Amino acid sequence: MDKLIIQGGGPLRGEVWISGSKNAALPILSATLLSEGLVTVANLPHLQDVTTTIELLGSLGVTVSIDEKMQLEVDNSTLQSRTAPYDLVKTMRASILVLGPLLARYGEANVSFPGGCAIGSRPVDLHLRGLEAMGATIEIEDGYIKARSDGRLVGCHILMDIVSVGATENLMMAAALAEGQTVIENAAREPEIVDLANCLNAWGADVQGAGSNRLVINGVESIEGGHFSVMPDRIETGTYLAAAVATRGRVKVTQTDPSSLEAVLLKLQETGAIITQGDDWIELDMKGKRPKAVSLRTAPYPAFPTDMQAQLTAINAVAEGTGVVVETIFENRLMQVQELNRMGAVISVEANTAVVTGVERLKAAPVMASDLRASAALVIAALVADGETVVDRIYHIDRGYECIEEKMHLLGARIKRVPG
Ligand code: EPZ
Repeated sequence: MDKLIIQGGGPLRGEVWISGSKNAALPILSATLLSEGLVTVANLPHLQDVTTTIELLGSLGVTVSIDEKMQLEVDNSTLQSRTAPYDLVKTMRASILVLGPLLARYGEANVSFPGGCAIGSRPVDLHLRGLEAMGATIEIEDGYIKARSDGRLVGCHILMDIVSVGATENLMMAAALAEGQTVIENAAREPEIVDLANCLNAWGADVQGAGSNRLVINGVESIEGGHFSVMPDRIETGTYLAAAVATRGRVKVTQTDPSSLEAVLLKLQETGAIITQGDDWIELDMKGKRPKAVSLRTAPYPAFPTDMQAQLTAINAVAEGTGVVVETIFENRLMQVQELNRMGAVISVEANTAVVTGVERLKAAPVMASDLRASAALVIAALVADGETVVDRIYHIDRGYECIEEKMHLLGARIKRVPG
């Protein structure tokens, strides 16, 4: 397994561009199954999860090609299978997002039951209950979710008892081709949900209310397809800004959308960062000062995102004072703590709460990535540790951060990848 070798050093300084959003790209690629005609998708990040989703489309028989502008062209008229196989689903839970589109378009979908992952059990009951409410029959057999609908799905009123990004996306896509109107109450409001709705509407669907907690989807007979460009990745944006805070540097991120991460920018300002922004860029300057510790509680958008919790824990590890971090979305998403403590951090964990007392500098140590965002936290910590840190199992990082060592190089980090 590849490793990252990171030499702790001084402040990050410079400019880096932001790639397309992983968490918008994955549902949008699944949505290509809904379209009668050809679709092209631009600004896709070069990430393992995107590759896996493209492989999944290919395994269904869909014709996928990359054009000269690195846009993805998808022709699902060649689709032969309606089964998302175990060997692909086990590597990426987001494969569940093909369930709604396959069922809505073809009346049948067999998706290997997604297991949990490092951060939690990750159930899919809300996805299944919503599809059943729309008239699907669903059985779990031999480790597969086997969904069928006799004719078109039928629009209905759905109340989500937990705010779920993936379930909102799956049900929005299924409802797009259902007969009649579907209302989804207590829908997730993440910017990636809005991007998916904008994409579906650009291709001929009728999705209203995206970004609010009440979606109204008027089913259409068919979706003709077209072009769409994926939004910038707000979590990648926040991660590079968090690295600038921890290293007391000055970093400008470009090709991003400041309006998609307001809660993160406010929290970074609380650490003492000076933040300026334009339509598609953000500059963060610590003026060489040590960050102040901050407390936070993760919650659904527009509150502070769980995907930025580990990165802020890493900032607190070297901040002035004590910060309390409460993770409310996933039951096991504080795994970066034990690795940070091995680097000299002073963090105690009680249930879903981490109390972080900052130290001036961390100490390099061999550490192991456990999930995507915990790995990012370890990279940030390694940048402010004395000595050379080896981060192992960085395939987690490659799932969500495009060219991380190249981008960090641009900011002056001393980081290299060694094949494991
Ligand atoms: C999406 O995961 C993101 N992944 C996650 O990002 C992100 O952390 C999460 O939303 C929350 O914002 C993608 O978009 C591909 P949820 P998802 O359904 O959809 C419970 C990253 O690092 N739940 O909103 O799986 C669930 O257990 C990844 O980029 C049910 O109980 O998250 C969790 O506690 C990690 N039943 C809570 O809801 C269900 O049927 C929120 O999960 C579905 C979810």
